[in-house]
Amino acid sequence: MSTPVLETQRLHLRPFRLDDADDVFRYASNPNVARWVTWETHKSRADAVRFIDMVLSRPTDDHTWAIRVDSESRVVGAIDFACIKPGVADIHYVLAEEFWGQGLMTQAARVVLSWGLSTYPFLNLVETFAAADNIGSCRVLQKCGFAEVKHRYERWQKYTELVEVAVFSTTTLKKLKFSHLPVRRQLVGVPPQGDLRHGC
Ligand SMILES: CC(C)(COP(=O)(O)OP(=O)(O)OC[C@H]1O[C@@H](n2cnc3c(N)ncnc32)[C@H](O)[C@@H]1OP(=O)(O)O)[C@@H](O)C(=O)NCCC(=O)NCCS
Repeated sequence: MSTPVLETQRLHLRPFRLDDADDVFRYASNPNVARWVTWETHKSRADAVRFIDMVLSRPTDDHTWAIRVDSESRVVGAIDFACIKPGVADIHYVLAEEFWGQGLMTQAARVVLSWGLSTYPFLNLVETFAAADNIGSCRVLQKCGFAEVKHRYERWQKYTELVEVAVFSTTTLKKLKFSHLPVRRQLVGVPPQGDLRHGC
């Protein structure tokens, strides 16, 4: 399934392109942005190129969008929706720090969930996780209708200490709160090769 362009009132979501590397490096080189994600803060533009290469190599049922906000021509974040096992999908996201707290990722997650669930009607649930201390991310998930189901400790390569992670799931897809959002679609092709899997 191709990754479509999705739009909301303030956001334009489209597949990544290699020439997005400067924009990705700009937000991903901020340690505050990378603090609660599994990947390392980007040290050079090459890290951003590697990220985009990886995204473009993902399997066809693993969709990653570059996020643009109405006021900016550059890419300011990423969101990923992937079918990870039979009946189950997951979602991950990241946004440039200067755009936090405006309800943008909630908007992005809702439109992506809306598209994902209508595109893959066989899904029984969507699950994901966030560091338990990542209050903003936990709140985005709650606002989208996810429930926190458990905590676990994970070893992330970039930290010496274990990270406490909150696991979220949709107990029933009907609970997801996205149905009121307008979705405009346009199909855009993305290279389907590869099997890499990694959060945004
Ligand atoms: C997590 C992230 C995506 C949230 O994006 P965002 O656009 O700011 O999210 P929203 O504005 O839609 O919602 C954030 C909510 O968390 C709340 N919040 C954020 N930080 C908070 C804090 N320290 N204490 C209490 N509430 C907090 C906001 O008030 C808002 O809730 P509200 O609408 O009820 O007021 C963004 O902060 C980010 O990209 N962080 C770095 C990468 C990351 O952590 N990705 C997720 C990995 S699991």
